[in-house]
Amino acid sequence: MNRIAALAAALGMAAALLQPSAGAGSEIAVDRSARGSFSLVDHTGRRVTERDFRGRFMLVFFGFTFCPDVCPTDLQTIGTALNALGAAGRRVQPIFITLDPERDTAEVLARYVRHFHPRFLGLTGTADEIALAAQAFGAIHVKLATRDGGYSLDHTAFTYLLGPDARFRAAFAHGIEPGQLAAGISRHLADPGR
Ligand code: NI
Repeated sequence: MNRIAALAAALGMAAALLQPSAGAGSEIAVDRSARGSFSLVDHTGRRVTERDFRGRFMLVFFGFTFCPDVCPTDLQTIGTALNALGAAGRRVQPIFITLDPERDTAEVLARYVRHFHPRFLGLTGTADEIALAAQAFGAIHVKLATRDGGYSLDHTAFTYLLGPDARFRAAFAHGIEPGQLAAGISRHLADPGR
């Protein structure tokens, strides 16, 4: 059992669903009554909550800019999928929330997110604010010491789709292809919800 699975088990969560490799590339059903709430600071220094995006879909990913592999892969997929959706993609706000506020300041996030899509917003905050947001989404991470005396994070890697009411519509597992993600988003864009 890896650390994420052990932590998930301790938290009483479905560990299988929380591993980045679980159901690679698949769309996972979510509790559509739950709200993806947060109060954080965007990469321009503006305080934002999910209410600021009312009326728009949100595509939310939790990670950290030092992530060597998982984050860049999924963020690239999000950018490519949104471009593939063309005009319809404009109804979706891509959001990256850091799990590493110690290193990922607004300035660091501004430089990072623009590599993946011009409309990407990077969000950071205090450790407590990040913890609250992660809890609302069921995103978890473990901090690990690295050999050079620094640290890294193991983290869950789902791309969450929220509807215009900021309630969950779907979660997509790490490893999804841009075409699959675009198709999944497109299906939800056509569904007005409640
Ligand atoms: Ni990552």
